[in-house]
Amino acid sequence: MRLRSFFFSSIFSLSRSHSPSPSLPSSRLSSSLSAAMSPAPEKSRQGNGECNNDLKSKVTVVGSGNWGSVAAKLIASNALKLSSFHDEVRMWVFEELLPNGEKLTDVINKTNENVKYLPGIKLGKNVVADPDLENAVKEANMLVFVTPHQFMDGICKKLDGKITGDVEAISLVKGMEVKKEGPCMISSLISKQLGINCCVLMGANIANEIAVEKFSEATVGYRESREIADTWVQLFSTPYFMVTPVHDVEGVELCGTLKNVVAIAAGFVDGLEMGNNTKAAIMRIGLREMKALSKLLFPSVKDSTFFESCGVADVITTCLGGRNRRVAEAFAKSGGKRSFDELEAEMLQGQKLQGVSTAREVYEVLNHCGWVEMFPLFSTVHQICTGRLQPEAIVHYRDHKA
Ligand SMILES: NC(=O)c1ccc[n+]([C@@H]2O[C@H](COP(=O)([O-])OP(=O)(O)OC[C@H]3O[C@@H](n4cnc5c(N)ncnc54)[C@H](O)[C@@H]3O)[C@@H](O)[C@H]2O)c1
Repeated sequence: MRLRSFFFSSIFSLSRSHSPSPSLPSSRLSSSLSAAMSPAPEKSRQGNGECNNDLKSKVTVVGSGNWGSVAAKLIASNALKLSSFHDEVRMWVFEELLPNGEKLTDVINKTNENVKYLPGIKLGKNVVADPDLENAVKEANMLVFVTPHQFMDGICKKLDGKITGDVEAISLVKGMEVKKEGPCMISSLISKQLGINCCVLMGANIANEIAVEKFSEATVGYRESREIADTWVQLFSTPYFMVTPVHDVEGVELCGTLKNVVAIAAGFVDGLEMGNNTKAAIMRIGLREMKALSKLLFPSVKDSTFFESCGVADVITTCLGGRNRRVAEAFAKSGGKRSFDELEAEMLQGQKLQGVSTAREVYEVLNHCGWVEMFPLFSTVHQICTGRLQPEAIVHYRDHKA
């Protein structure tokens, strides 16, 4: 009981305190903001001299996987068009050697393509790959974090003390950290560790589809400043990528995080060939558990957030087509005999699964709070992933109406 109240007070103090002083936009950012609030001057029409170079915002994308590369492509196309942004977009690359011995960064800069994580798609000539994290962020005042969540703690530690001036961040990372004092959303981790405000962008966004410019939507969650949210919306929006701001960071981020657990459940259903009705039931129960847990952790979370792209739409797309679903399907087909690690390495070629680790992290929170019984789908997914239950158990539980 004492543990639980300590846990709650930690969560709530986190949610109140993690965002640094309501960020007053820097001069560079306020120039972007005014551009966001008024019809955006386009470089091609207005000329590059429209906005003083020193006042232009500079963007760095921290991460270069499948979604990271697509995010860089979206941003790069807008940075070229909008006079309030520098043309160049830096992209930090976790350096890897390709099978031919070349460095991934060199190949991206030579071919303008991330041949490992997004082959066949040009990123834009203004994307510059940089393997040095500190160097990549040093001139930026807008940071876009987009790596698998398990690497974010290490990245923030490396950047600790290195971010100075008025810098804004946005996290596209779906996942959370569980610390001894409770769950810590990635946007909170960034804000606390780096002392900067952090919005989030989540949604029904399978990266490969956006890479080929198929229409989709996304949600930007913001905490204090609608103006900053509008700047992010402007930076990401294209005719095929429609972004909506929502005043609910935790709701948006928890949707993006928890839906990966529902995707694993949907994969089990597919692997066992249980059919569409069962899958729809799993999606419904999953969505309800997402909402219930989000509201228990953060009472400020809004019901309406679950009807945005980050909510119901992401649950649908991820249960139909995402990588978590695909690997969980293979796991169920093997009768739980092949491990997720083995399947991830074989099926994803370096891309990372998020659902299995998120299921473990969610289970730790549920267990810690005495909520396991209230969340049968989340708990069952974790127990199947760890081999304590068979994949068939995904439909063998009583629905406790979380
Ligand atoms: N891919 C999608 O369709 C998609 C869509 C929406 C959101 N997301 C989210 O975006 C985030 C990033 O996913 P992604 O698809 O860009 O990545 P990915 O899974 O495609 O690639 C893995 C990335 O991790 C990097 N990496 C490997 N080891 C590392 C280390 N030790 N430290 C730091 N980086 C390391 C790799 O170089 C690579 O860039 C995740 O939170 C994911 O849930 C992905």
